[in-house]
Amino acid sequence: MKNNKTVVIYPGSFDPITNGHLDVLERIIGTYDKVICAIGENSDKNYLFSLDNRLDMMHHTVPKNVRVNSFKGLLIDYAKTVKRETRPDKVLIARGIRMNSDFEEELKMTLNNRKLCPWLDYRYLPPSQGLIHVNSRFIKDIAKMNPKRINQLDVPKYVKQKLKEKYG
Ligand code: PNS
Repeated sequence: MKNNKTVVIYPGSFDPITNGHLDVLERIIGTYDKVICAIGENSDKNYLFSLDNRLDMMHHTVPKNVRVNSFKGLLIDYAKTVKRETRPDKVLIARGIRMNSDFEEELKMTLNNRKLCPWLDYRYLPPSQGLIHVNSRFIKDIAKMNPKRINQLDVPKYVKQKLKEKYG
């Protein structure tokens, strides 16, 4: 049975959203009813796609029952806003974990966040084995260096189109 008293925030840069992200998202939706994909916007980071572009790609690719949103500043502050607005029993942060290096980074982030916001909890989800290699950074490198390879990339059709508009 699905848990509908919990809100799950799936945060990320999503620059761009990949089939790996969507695989993890499907796993979250399989267990929880209320899911928010939240795009983190950090003015110190150089994104390939603007926030509007990333929101647009998200709206075109995630299932309709998923809320799409963005946030600036700390994730814990965004989670606090979600808690105040939706009044769930619990708020969870979901993150995809592909390999050990991801786990180390996520654990550091989780423990730092937990120190500041003890009520917030975390779920780490591995994607399907066939998508472990998928990484937005490599997607962008490959698309930039050889746009002819864009069709081979593990991203939704709509994202391929957007990559071709940039580099094709
Ligand atoms: O897809 P990414 O780049 O791994 O997503 C990272 C994201 C956006 C989840 C992370 O950078 C984040 O939570 N940013 C908000 C700023 C913040 O809370 N920083 C403190 C982390 S301990």
